[in-house]
Amino acid sequence: MPSVFIKTYGCQMNERDSEAVAAQLVLKGYVLAPSEKGADVILLNTCSVRDSAEQKALGKMRMLAADVRKHRPEVVLGFMGCMAQSMGRELIDQLPDVDLVIGTQKFHRTAEHLDAILSGRSEKVVDTEAERGSEGSIREHLLHGSGLSRSVTAFVSIMQGCNQHCTFCIVPFTRGEERSRLIEDIVHECQELASRGVREVTLLGQIVTSYGKREIGTRDGISAFVQLVEAVQAVDGIRRIRFTSPHPKGYGDDLIEAYARFPKLCESAHLPVQSGSDRILKLMHRGYTRERFEAIIEKLRAACPTMGITTDIIVGFPGETEADFEATLSLARAVEFDNAFLFKYSPRKGTPAVDLPGQIPQPVIEERHACLLQTVNQIIARKYQASVGSTVEILVEGPSRKNAARLEGRTRTNRIVVFEGSPRHVGQLMEVRIERAGNFTLYGDPAIVNLNGS
Ligand code: SAH
Ligand code: F3S
Repeated sequence: MPSVFIKTYGCQMNERDSEAVAAQLVLKGYVLAPSEKGADVILLNTCSVRDSAEQKALGKMRMLAADVRKHRPEVVLGFMGCMAQSMGRELIDQLPDVDLVIGTQKFHRTAEHLDAILSGRSEKVVDTEAERGSEGSIREHLLHGSGLSRSVTAFVSIMQGCNQHCTFCIVPFTRGEERSRLIEDIVHECQELASRGVREVTLLGQIVTSYGKREIGTRDGISAFVQLVEAVQAVDGIRRIRFTSPHPKGYGDDLIEAYARFPKLCESAHLPVQSGSDRILKLMHRGYTRERFEAIIEKLRAACPTMGITTDIIVGFPGETEADFEATLSLARAVEFDNAFLFKYSPRKGTPAVDLPGQIPQPVIEERHACLLQTVNQIIARKYQASVGSTVEILVEGPSRKNAARLEGRTRTNRIVVFEGSPRHVGQLMEVRIERAGNFTLYGDPAIVNLNGS
């Protein structure tokens, strides 16, 4: 049976898509290769959000063509995901060694296309058409065996696409219009995951606060997304619920109240702010002001003082003045995010921001990025340090990624805690006392572990 290796770039949706493609191929009899070495099929699941991500994948494919292909001409090479969607056949024109280009609405066709290529029926395949109903096709999960590597957490795709059209963002082009899955299908998937030992689900979408707007709608003041959270809350065996990413514009009171209503909903929110300047927010077409964003944060913290709040920020958006940047700095200081992902603005072909006046020179972007990074990192380090001595609930996920002799779990606020435990703890909720804080990692005391079942 042919073996396949999938390398994933980019966001959690891509991780989830790769997992679903891998599961689909395993069901069709393929085996998963641990690395590209020796694999019969090598697929790159790509990201288009920034130019650097595209260059990485292109460089990798060039290397595969020159190296792997040269020694094993029968190897099948493919691009999937966002770059495949936005570039299509151009990828084969640029890199003639590529056999397969699979867009973001065609993941479920991967096995079919590979079979055609491997059996010689097709030479090359480019499939990037829109496909109605494709949002429901990302269902299969790949949950590994038992024991230490058992999957305790899983991503569940609830919708595809985004209609917001932020002026810097390529996602509405690569992922298409918003399409939501039905609540009952998502609940069914969560039940299935629970029966396979999954204890925590993360509901995934580009803009989850727009979930089901058209298809389901608001009922008694409760948005479709919160109706979905309520339905997942009722799934036996699922102990924790997370979601990513919401949009500040859609973060209504019903969602803030959900944290109190649904005990499984973890006290953590990834709320991309992008900028602290109203002028820039407007140019970005974000649909909220700084004041509105700060009001949401205030309400979230009033509802739950320990809430873990993370964000995304772009520096160097066209027209960003020193004063605009100062506004972002001041927002970062005022909000004190628990983590922040900082991005240097990258012009994306076809997005409106490319044509805005006042493109910022690269050295200025670098300087602002470094300055903001220092500011947010100091705050994050202080907050991690402040949690030393507290007792927190973690869900034990498996061996620590940094040191396989230890275990790691996550707090409800989405911080990683490393501790010494035994494999039988995997999948359990535990209380640990935080002894020490490192870089983005907390260390828990194994001596004060209280088991409370799984
Ligand atoms: N709504 C999606 C956004 C996906 S892109 C989600 O949160 O899942 C993730 C982040 O990349 C965005 O929040 C933004 O901060 C950053 N980003 C998007 N387009 C960018 C660009 N052209 N240049 C730099 N950063 C960008
Ligand atoms: Fe992109 Fe804005 Fe949607 S960042 S994914 S267009 S909410």
